[in-house]
Amino acid sequence: MEISEDKWEEVTEGSTTFSIYKDADIIYDASVFYNPKMAINRDLTILAISSIIKKEMKKICFLDPFAGTGVRSYRIINELPQNSVEKVIVGDINPIAINIITRNSNNLNFDEKMEIKHSNAINIIDSLPKNKDTTHIIDLDPFGSPIEYIEESLRALRINEGYLFSTATDLQVLCGKFPDSCYRIYNAFPTRHFLCHEVALRILIYNMIISAGRLGLAVEPILCYNHEHFLRVKVKVKDSKEVANQQHKKLGYVYFCKKCSYIATVELSKELESTLCSNCSKKLEKAGPLWLGNLYELEFIEQMKKDIEQFTLQLEKKIEKLLNLILDEINSPPFFYYIPFILRFCKKEGVSLNQIIDSLRSKGFTVSRTIFDPQGLKTDASYDEIVNVIEQY
Ligand SMILES: C[S@@+](CC[C@H](N)C(=O)[O-])C[C@H]1O[C@@H](n2cnc3c(N)ncnc32)[C@H](O)[C@@H]1O
Ligand SMILES: [Zn+2]
Repeated sequence: MEISEDKWEEVTEGSTTFSIYKDADIIYDASVFYNPKMAINRDLTILAISSIIKKEMKKICFLDPFAGTGVRSYRIINELPQNSVEKVIVGDINPIAINIITRNSNNLNFDEKMEIKHSNAINIIDSLPKNKDTTHIIDLDPFGSPIEYIEESLRALRINEGYLFSTATDLQVLCGKFPDSCYRIYNAFPTRHFLCHEVALRILIYNMIISAGRLGLAVEPILCYNHEHFLRVKVKVKDSKEVANQQHKKLGYVYFCKKCSYIATVELSKELESTLCSNCSKKLEKAGPLWLGNLYELEFIEQMKKDIEQFTLQLEKKIEKLLNLILDEINSPPFFYYIPFILRFCKKEGVSLNQIIDSLRSKGFTVSRTIFDPQGLKTDASYDEIVNVIEQY
């Protein structure tokens, strides 16, 4: 394709200004588009890498094999402390993306730190040298599912016990619109009901844990979340069969009632006593297999929060809100009760989520809101205990 000089436009995200090529009026029609909606994903990536650098005290090598305009990598080189980034490998299969990246790399004087690769991501990942200190972080950001790149990435990260970051935008599959596709791609049953996003995220992590386990590796979630139309998983790779064995004990299923929001989780090796809802006798829906363990690492999230002021983030307020919610949720068990269904079951109106939270907390239960739903409540209290609290009002 001919590149015409008058179609270049400057964009600033965070504190980085770079050029994009606008060959269509609507951003999503452009041959390589810059998506401002994903700025939150990139802001959190900057904060996450900053925490990793502080924790590991070493210069990082970062691989961005689905780079698009390259914005993620420019921000990493430009916004993180200069002496903390050794090398960034930026790749894409689309020649226009490579043209955009090459132009920006020259204009921004990034040539020393940036290596550009025009190839299929799988070849780029596969060709990484498997030596010490060559690749610390791989960030998968494909259109749709990252599943076919996970195992190769884990192999590349093994020697440095690095970090795998991955976005997934195939929510129609993972959130149950196409359950057969979900079963084929992720070997798991999704749901379309109130738990859909948390189930989707935990199915994706389950797949990472299974792939890692086959290689004798473990992956430890440090920040996994869902935001609008995407899921994002950040895990640390550990070269330990023992840790992997322990993690496999936290794989299982969630059962839930679509009518009254009763929920129960069960490990893969165990059976649920009854698959009928103990409140309303409706047949429980089952989703999984999925990951039942933690989605966040406390120290890591706290460091990210501390570092917010260090950067010019595109969406600082949103990031602060999300990290606060995560810190609230961090010790809660997996999955949440959907409070409007419990209020309907109790035939109660006008009891607020805050009132329920305060009452359960005063009784000594672990309780929090959740990033997955503003009407959701995570707690170790049983359904009956929540009903008791609601009935006091
Ligand atoms: C979601 S966009 C990337 C957005 C970018 N990471 C960002 O933060 O703005 C996905 C990119 O992956 C590229 N792509 C698709 N399939 C690929 C493959 N198999 N190997 C390498 N790149 C691929 C596309 O050309 C596109 O630029
Ligand atoms: Zn029920």
